[in-house]
Amino acid sequence: LSAMPRHKRGRSSPRSATVDVLPSPRTSSPTLPGGMDARRFLRDYWQKRPLLIRAACPGIHSLLNRADLFALARDATVESRLVLEQAGDYPWQVQHGPFSAAQLRRLPNTHWSLLVQGVNFHRPRAAALLEEFSVIPNWRVDDLMVSYAVDHGSVGPHLDSYDVFLLQAAGQRRWRISNRVYGESDLVPDLDLRILGNFKHSRTWLLKPGDMLYLPPGVAHHGIAVGESITCSIGFRAPSNTELLGAWLDSGNIEETRLNDPNLGLQSHSGEITAQQRRQLRRLIRSALPNDANLDRWLGRHLTNLPASVPPPALGPALTAPAFLARLKRGDLLVRTTPCRTAFFIAGNGRAHLFINGAEFELPARSVALATQVTGPGRVQWNPRNDATSRREGAVLFALHRAGLLRFQD
Ligand code: SIN
Ligand code: CO
Repeated sequence: LSAMPRHKRGRSSPRSATVDVLPSPRTSSPTLPGGMDARRFLRDYWQKRPLLIRAACPGIHSLLNRADLFALARDATVESRLVLEQAGDYPWQVQHGPFSAAQLRRLPNTHWSLLVQGVNFHRPRAAALLEEFSVIPNWRVDDLMVSYAVDHGSVGPHLDSYDVFLLQAAGQRRWRISNRVYGESDLVPDLDLRILGNFKHSRTWLLKPGDMLYLPPGVAHHGIAVGESITCSIGFRAPSNTELLGAWLDSGNIEETRLNDPNLGLQSHSGEITAQQRRQLRRLIRSALPNDANLDRWLGRHLTNLPASVPPPALGPALTAPAFLARLKRGDLLVRTTPCRTAFFIAGNGRAHLFINGAEFELPARSVALATQVTGPGRVQWNPRNDATSRREGAVLFALHRAGLLRFQD
């Protein structure tokens, strides 16, 4: 999913672009960075209208600097793009990484940006930032894209079909958003990017480090760097039927079956597709889909798969099972390694299915608490009892440790 540049993906139905500006109330219930009550955000803004939150993440400036982003852009396992508004072979040229140090050094002083996708899969601190957004389900999270721009750098006015939090990390960026409804006919033809030709903004904000703008899908926007600027874009995904079906077909889980009709009788009209034949063909199509239980399990694996370009976590020095369990019993805390995508669900029989990076682990019904810890924000603490459930939990935690997915906190 994240292989395709988020701001180049298709568009969805436009939303109203009324905007609220959050003063900054703080509550003790789950909140968004900046303190808005999560229930209120989900009820009033999520997929509905933009929201500006000033000083949402005051500590964000230390997350990544230009040198870190350039280093990521030189790495072949990282997806990166340069958007050259003026300095390319044609306007708004997009070049794909990895880039050499010399290429990055040669860039002009204005009008370009470097977009680095999936930073959370490569930098633990970026993964930790995403945990601040855990009021949205893990599986809806696409990735953390970080853009570095010089003065006037921009990707042009455009629409995204995905929800996004645009968090200013360093420098300043001026965001313009529009309350107009735009469609395919508003796009400038033959460009590398889907740029809106007649973008007219209705609101403007200057975002400073720590400020954050939430945009629902379909709200046209244009962010222009004011001086050097680093912006984090926490992007979500909303799979479509065609994407999911395509992924299921590609998953190799289907045994191909073909129509057979040894009892084909003589038809009155050779042109007719008979009711029985239509039934048989419909059944053939539906036979490619598994039952609900197996479809759910595939969804868990599919939705937690890492992007294809991202290498799995390195296998660290694993402990033996007794040494591992002894440390857990002592109360030592486990942390997830990077890269990491997790989710779980409770099946109809009450058992918990835990998914990490596309791998599935089945846990007993009483292990839901463990699944919530492994997939939730923060660290994992395990208090074993002397029973079969705990033995299974210990075995799963050990398997995760051996696979390089969990390690003890230093
Ligand atoms: C966006 O508009 O979706 C992000 C662009 C950027 O960070 O440059
Ligand atoms: Co965008």
